[in-house]
Amino acid sequence: MTNHKLSTDPYKGVRDFYPEDMAIQRYLFDVWSATAEAFGFERYDASILEPAELYKSKGAENEEIINEQAYTFTDRGDREVILRPEMTPTVARMVAGKRRELQFPARWYSIPNLFRYERPQRGRLREHWQLNCDIFGGEPFAADLEILTLAAHLFRTFGATEDTFEIRVNSRALLEDQITPQLRDEAQLPEYLRLLDRKAKLSDEEFREREATLLKDGAQVQVVADAYINELLHGLRALGVTNAVFEPTITRGFDYYTGVVFEVFDISGQNPRALMGGGRYDNLTGLFGGEPVSGVGFGLGDVTMRDFLETHELLPTTLKATGPHVMVIPMSASEHLYAEQVAHQIRQAGFSVATDIGNKKVGEKISRASEKGTKFICVIGEDEATSNVLTLKRLASGEEQRGELAALVNFLAVE
Ligand code: HAM
Repeated sequence: MTNHKLSTDPYKGVRDFYPEDMAIQRYLFDVWSATAEAFGFERYDASILEPAELYKSKGAENEEIINEQAYTFTDRGDREVILRPEMTPTVARMVAGKRRELQFPARWYSIPNLFRYERPQRGRLREHWQLNCDIFGGEPFAADLEILTLAAHLFRTFGATEDTFEIRVNSRALLEDQITPQLRDEAQLPEYLRLLDRKAKLSDEEFREREATLLKDGAQVQVVADAYINELLHGLRALGVTNAVFEPTITRGFDYYTGVVFEVFDISGQNPRALMGGGRYDNLTGLFGGEPVSGVGFGLGDVTMRDFLETHELLPTTLKATGPHVMVIPMSASEHLYAEQVAHQIRQAGFSVATDIGNKKVGEKISRASEKGTKFICVIGEDEATSNVLTLKRLASGEEQRGELAALVNFLAVE
């Protein structure tokens, strides 16, 4: 054993959630679930661990994620295991596994934590939580339209206006149609798409140089919207989503997409990384044998969501108030048992309550309760402990009421 003191820092790139951060995290998850459920999505979940094979099979492979970002290990039975870097292969596995029993269209959502060995930076960490919403089966145009409408609503439910974010849409089918004829070798389409995906990270010259190695001599790529995309954008406008645009450079880094692809961006300029990404993948469930079930969906990360909400001042200030509704404050240690009994009765009456059993002065305990957002205090001195009469004080107004608890319940119900 070494003698040096252990660090209190978490492992690089993952986060500790102290109560105030956890309150924000829970708020994000609550709004996400409520919005997904308002669109009829059902919640599912799975383990963090998957066989690494799931990510290596043809069609699910993603070079960057597997070769550079995967957390993998070999278990005691010599199996290669991966800490899931995304949820899509998992949900495709689950849908394929119950293909015969499930009713389609199936609308499913989940909020998994995912692991990617990335260089920690604004908007990108090594562990994040990601809302995944996917529709399996159903008529493709309607499903695409619905997924994009839900994407917009996930921002609007937090109070974001349409001028603060943009949904950038493209299509793999369109890219394939328009780019393949320009390539030296058709098989290099995935490589060209990966290059396009990285365009913003490369200098113009670097991009042109690499592009030239893939294109036929003298060929030029100019991707323009097709009828499907125009109809989709038109449909979105009819549903009140006016901030979706065609963006020819959106390709997405995953090989499994086959149709519409999209990403959502903050347009304030303060959060340069995509806030959300998704698309249609018609063949992924086919990896598990049998007829594939088509899917379309997206992932929305908690790190970028919180950055976005903070940038646009959309987080409710009340989230910091993590204290209970009532704080019972014994004046001295001899009232501790009675204070616990009072707290128990208040809890039975349906209010959240705790006792401050610290050794600070009463005044300090009251200030602390107030800072934590507690609405009422109940100070217990010798008198209260012997008389059964309580004094409750509403901190916001300073108003007090005395009596037996049964008579004070109505007072406690009004903040
Ligand atoms: P993705 O683009 O890799 O897509 O991730 C989706 C979102 O997750 C990103 O836009 C970002 O908000 C968040 N995210 C990704 N990586 C990180 C990271 N290292 N740190 C923090 N946040 C991150 C997918 O994962 C697809 N499987 C989504 C999907 C679902 N497609 C269809 N269905």
